[in-house]
Amino acid sequence: MTYHAIKGMDDVLPSDIALYQHIERCARSLCHIYNYSEIRTPLLEFTDLFTRSVGQETDIVQKEMYAFTDNKDRSLALRPEGTAPVVRAFLEHYLYKQATVQKLFYMGPMFRYERPQAGRKRQFHQVGVEVFGGCSPLVDAEVMSLLLHLLKAFGVEDTTLMINSSGCATCRPSYTAYLKEFFVGKRLLLCDNCNRRYDTNPLRMLDCKQVQCQQLFAPLASMDDYLCAPCVTHFGAVQHYLYLLGFSYVVSPKLVRGLDYYTGVVFEVTSADLGAQDAVGAGGRYDRLVADMGGPDVPAVGFAIGVERVVKILQDAGGIVSETKKEGAFFIPVDQRAVDDILVWTHQLRQQGVRSQYDYEERSVKASMRYANKAGFRYVLVVGEREIADKRIAVKDMVEGHEDTVGFQEVVDYLSGRNAI
Ligand code: HAM
Repeated sequence: MTYHAIKGMDDVLPSDIALYQHIERCARSLCHIYNYSEIRTPLLEFTDLFTRSVGQETDIVQKEMYAFTDNKDRSLALRPEGTAPVVRAFLEHYLYKQATVQKLFYMGPMFRYERPQAGRKRQFHQVGVEVFGGCSPLVDAEVMSLLLHLLKAFGVEDTTLMINSSGCATCRPSYTAYLKEFFVGKRLLLCDNCNRRYDTNPLRMLDCKQVQCQQLFAPLASMDDYLCAPCVTHFGAVQHYLYLLGFSYVVSPKLVRGLDYYTGVVFEVTSADLGAQDAVGAGGRYDRLVADMGGPDVPAVGFAIGVERVVKILQDAGGIVSETKKEGAFFIPVDQRAVDDILVWTHQLRQQGVRSQYDYEERSVKASMRYANKAGFRYVLVVGEREIADKRIAVKDMVEGHEDTVGFQEVVDYLSGRNAI
């Protein structure tokens, strides 16, 4: 039997790791600039955390969770998203008592049992942020600004920011009632999914991609017409701030999100460089979730970016242009008696923070040199019979193309000095 990875769960091989590291580096640095602190939550949570927050009737909870019972018969789930665990941690550790506004970011794997296809994985990574305690539209504008800034820093061009207000507990029920009324005699024309959503979450019908349903939605009144005055004011202010910051956006009245916790402003960034799964990041306000999960009345807003989708865009564009800097020393023993010295030099250099390696393989010097070059070593030292007899060794600089000869005693000092230059 041969082993293979689970479908939809990819290995990230050394040849692709640079892109992931680039994304992680940009995310850490920009989140710091915007004053967000990192939080890490476990990959496993109690299943009802997601059922309760993401919503019993959502696709994630209905079909996509990797949930199982543990030895004590408790239902656990691999996290399908990051918001609910962060809210759980925010409450469990009373973070709301430490500051009125908490700005958090996270990076890590999420798990959804979806049908794998381009841009849709069963294990994927997100970079996400959650801001707790700020109800001002300034906070919505800040998170959207950070989302767009991150994508730009990653190297993702050609994106569209779509925004909508999905209403609050006051105004959403009247739009939901309107939708139910509108479709009451047309249910047979709706697809099965929409029929189910008609009963469980009518707003989510608007997310249906089926052509026959889309045609039925065309004459619908827009959600905007049903927003209450505070939602209208908030949504207007967010747009004003986006305009001030110079961001273009599209108001997309049918934009609804697939997770139930959203209230008010929701947004999605799509990329023209992706196929059917074109959302590269998405989020919104969830002002009720903290209270619904048993905490105080703390408003919140956040987003998550799909890392694999960013990677795909960057790969298709030819990867990132990164000058791989040649550094460190590679030792090639051509005489067995050289091994002891080489072992000690390598050890000492590593202790001093100098990248170094010796060749374990019995191969020609030419092949070893080729390897050293490919692996990005700057200095190459070949130790053979003559070097052992003279107790001196040539240090070839693969960047400058010259060589210095140093005594065995000075090898480590010479290389660590060069490394500091
Ligand atoms: P989401 O829309 O479910 O939102 O996911 C956010 C992003 O994760 C998507 O736009 C997409 O780029 C990526 N993504 C989702 N599913 C997959 C998948 N199966 N394969 C690859 N990428 C995927 C959330 O998860 C919310 N927690 C975002 C949020 C944070 N809202 C408020 N705070």
